[in-house]
Amino acid sequence: MIKPATPETIAQGAKLLLNNELCVFPTETVYGLGANALSADAVLKIYQAKGRPAYNPLIVHIGSLDQLDEIVKEWSSLAKILTAKFWPGPLTVVVPRTDRIPAIVSAGLDTVAVRMPAHPIAQQLLQACNIPLAAPSANRSETISPTTAEHVAKNLPDIPLIIDGGPCIWGIESTVLDLTGNRPRLLRPGALSLSALREVVAEIELPQIVDDESAKLSPGMMKRHYAPRAKLILSNDLEQIDWSSLAKPIGLLLCHKQATPIMQHAAQIELLGYEAAAYATDLYAALHRLDDAQVSTIVAELPPNEEAWLAIHNRLTRAAT
Ligand code: TXA
Ligand code: MG
Repeated sequence: MIKPATPETIAQGAKLLLNNELCVFPTETVYGLGANALSADAVLKIYQAKGRPAYNPLIVHIGSLDQLDEIVKEWSSLAKILTAKFWPGPLTVVVPRTDRIPAIVSAGLDTVAVRMPAHPIAQQLLQACNIPLAAPSANRSETISPTTAEHVAKNLPDIPLIIDGGPCIWGIESTVLDLTGNRPRLLRPGALSLSALREVVAEIELPQIVDDESAKLSPGMMKRHYAPRAKLILSNDLEQIDWSSLAKPIGLLLCHKQATPIMQHAAQIELLGYEAAAYATDLYAALHRLDDAQVSTIVAELPPNEEAWLAIHNRLTRAAT
């Protein structure tokens, strides 16, 4: 059930979470499906509601740095520096975990992914319940992440409470950085850009998308993810597409902001522009709109092959797998 984010709703959400029930809340990236991160029973409900494979670990959200002691075993100087700069915000760090975090949260790994969200509603909820919250994106596994409360209700109708905080400002998930090795390793490009990270750490190992079997060893890199219902085709050159061979109706996802002749082939058109952050903010919402319009094929124009577009390329490529 969707409820506006009033103090009463937040109190109700905190109560559910303390009773080891699920509650959906907005973050600045995407909506999260929250549960008490200290309870294996509560976290199991997340996996069940999402149909999430047990080998894919969850991010633990905290409301204050005091909560780190309980869940994190080693907090390196690099972790301190990075989080001092980017928290609260769309950065998730993977660090060694304590035994207080049930194995199910981390899919059996001896690490935990932690993030302090910046969204005021997420912060108020975290303060109100005063426990760390495990929260993946609030969608069924392998479907498009939600950036509005309505996206969540459509995809996960049985969650007891969805706190509505309006559309998410980043619209794409947090950047996940593994801090357990010698050098920080990017596990998932996301809302926080590499150029912002490089202002703090010069050398970052970049991700490779690997096949799903090997991805189990290094989660976050699973190939297929974020997929719309329609078949998604990526193209560098829309002029070369054989439109007659595609299942109709066709939806178009373009970087343009102005009309082009290829638009005649489409039943619905989404114009996201050539600015990476603005494109990211509306990408999932546009894919949801195209699915709602029941197009059979989505043709997406590949955005520029530049680092600023890394997270978007990653999501589009995985959605098209
Ligand atoms: O923006 C976000 O990060 C959103 C909001 C709700 O905070 N959450 C989110 O969670 O995107 P989820 O579960 O959809 O993605 C979590 C990512 C996955 O790629 C997962 O494999 C990785 O984080 N991850 C979690 N724990 C990990 C760990 N211990 N080691 C390596 N990767 C981990
Ligand atoms: Mg997700």
